[in-house]
Amino acid sequence: MSHNWEEIYAEQRPKSKALYNEAKQNTAGGVGHDLRHTVPFPRYIDHALGARMWDVDGNEYIDYGMGNAACFLGHSPPEVLDAVREVIGNGLHFGNDHPHQVEWAGLIQQLVPSAERVRFVNSGTEGSMLALRVARAFTKRTKVLRFEGHFSGWHDYVGKGAMIPFNETVSAGIPAATLDTIKVIPADLEAVEAAFRNDSDIAAVMLEPSGASWGRVPLSVEFNRELQRLTQEYGVLLIYDEVITGFRYSPGGYQKLVDITPDMSILGKIMTGGLPGGAIVGRADIMSLFDFTGDPHHDRYERIHHLGTFNANPLSTAAGIATLKRVATGEPHIQADRMAALLRQGMEEILEEEQVAGYAYGDSSGLHLHLEAYPGSGATDRDAVRTNDPARLKGIPNEIVSAYQKNLQIRGVNILSYTGGVTSAAHTEEDINKTLNIFQDTIRVLVQEKLIARLG
Ligand SMILES: Cc1ncc(COP(=O)(O)O)c(C=O)c1O
Repeated sequence: MSHNWEEIYAEQRPKSKALYNEAKQNTAGGVGHDLRHTVPFPRYIDHALGARMWDVDGNEYIDYGMGNAACFLGHSPPEVLDAVREVIGNGLHFGNDHPHQVEWAGLIQQLVPSAERVRFVNSGTEGSMLALRVARAFTKRTKVLRFEGHFSGWHDYVGKGAMIPFNETVSAGIPAATLDTIKVIPADLEAVEAAFRNDSDIAAVMLEPSGASWGRVPLSVEFNRELQRLTQEYGVLLIYDEVITGFRYSPGGYQKLVDITPDMSILGKIMTGGLPGGAIVGRADIMSLFDFTGDPHHDRYERIHHLGTFNANPLSTAAGIATLKRVATGEPHIQADRMAALLRQGMEEILEEEQVAGYAYGDSSGLHLHLEAYPGSGATDRDAVRTNDPARLKGIPNEIVSAYQKNLQIRGVNILSYTGGVTSAAHTEEDINKTLNIFQDTIRVLVQEKLIARLG
């Protein structure tokens, strides 16, 4: 059944509709990224500036997607565009290291506690894949321990864990032998210790330290501290996936904020200031596996083989340095965090006013919303719907998620994925107030349509 909001969405977007009809004939799956798939068709974005984004039909959005959370300074920040313009005249790519790369690695080293050494890659997924290879080589063990709901890219070695049911493959085409190298457990310290005790072949535990999906399923600092203690006791490497939290939770990421230094970290998104790229960083003794020693046996069999045409290409390097220089001041975080806090608080007040079974939450510049399905849990107050269960927090029915997103979009708000988003240094109080009005209208529609529950 087509809902009223889907019809409005389609009427507002004739050019996107036509583009999608064409895309279906030439693009596998019709879109360039699974998250962009939506019914009845995706929007095609034309340009973006600050906290705003415009699609090809001229619809304006206050954006809480911010380039999949890469654009922390806002869209099109002048100093980043200038830095890219400055290097672009010299040629696009040389297949050799660029002098600025050394400066970029130095900035990362200075900001991120675990970055004794930096190795550049082309995406968060590549970083995740490479970090696991390094962990295996260093520990001479095979498996990775992961937590339910955590996402670390789309390669085969993280082929289960992110998606409900958490212990089943996320995709067709992943070899069973590869899936056997992944152990997915609840984020529970007793389960961690049991896994380490019962399986001496675990090379690494890799997690989003904030909790799955930039804190949708929150993890505490105490959990992280005790997890580190256990990894040290059992000789397992601790890998923080800071692809979203890195440079966002603080200039040095989550790890700097809470003063826990993992053995390795994966970085991306903000690090490259909106252009493709990423890095793995880690302890010097671990990262020495990349070194060439001149010993033919070592260099052929004992080091990490790693290539990548566009690693630390000049454009991404320029954008990354310009972004990290501002990140280093800590000033963008003050604005982004304040705006997210205002948004979360405003949403909480609206949910209270509308007596809806759900809650808004998040840390730093992150935003999440949990909504209980109609007829809901039967909860009589909003505290009763608070949960830490990944299956519930990541299991809001598709129908609700889709109705939530579409109702925001037809009114001019874009979020990152599911019911969550991020703010940037470019968001203003005016953006937040406008968003809250749209949020209230959206919640009322969802209640009216009996998609979400009122407290009962
Ligand atoms: C926590 C986390 N890890 C890894 C990735 C993968 O990064 P990329 O999309 O650059 O491959 C993402 C992407 O959203 C992410 O959120």
